[in-house]
Amino acid sequence: MTNNENTVYFITGNKYKFREVSEIFKKKKIKYDLEQKDIKTTEIQAQTLKDVALFKLNSVKCKMKGSFFIEDAGFFVDIPLEGFPGVYSSYVLKTIGNEGILKLINDFDRSVAHFSAIIAFYFKPIDKTLFFEGLVEGKVSKTIRGKGGFGFDPIFIPNIILDKTFAELSTEEKNKISHRGQALGKLLEFLEKN
Ligand code: IMP
Repeated sequence: MTNNENTVYFITGNKYKFREVSEIFKKKKIKYDLEQKDIKTTEIQAQTLKDVALFKLNSVKCKMKGSFFIEDAGFFVDIPLEGFPGVYSSYVLKTIGNEGILKLINDFDRSVAHFSAIIAFYFKPIDKTLFFEGLVEGKVSKTIRGKGGFGFDPIFIPNIILDKTFAELSTEEKNKISHRGQALGKLLEFLEKN
């Protein structure tokens, strides 16, 4: 059992996610420290990221004593794939991968895509689960570009930065605009006040 009232645990086995989140956390002056906990969560196939996140959070509740959160994200190609891969992002990345996604798209200039992230946070002092969301819009890159980031980063060009994929940005640059950065910013605002 884990317990430290000034520590917030991020349950993840993804070192890239943890790096992004800890960089943001470090910059904020709050009374809480961040720690990674790599314990197995149960992932269900559901219709929304929120349902996936809540199920994951509850699946480890019995192993945790303090405050902790999980984060679930998805890549959605709105045009022309009507939101695919969305909640199937993990499976699609492991199977057809970024190359497979590119093969499904004809007109890259007209493509519309976004990343969404949701943080499900169990806050021990009030015994409540809270949700914080983030979203970043952009399009699909014609080619796989960049060495940074992870997952679908090499094929996503955010609207706000001209013609660079997420994988061509530094962690700091990605964090400033990303879905995860936004969701975490909201969690940190909450922690500042509580
Ligand atoms: P997860 O369930 O939140 O771990 O993410 C679902 C899928 O989306 C995984 O295959 C991740 O690699 C991918 N993914 C999540 N966040 C990002 C991101 O920030 N950039 C690129 N791919 C991501």
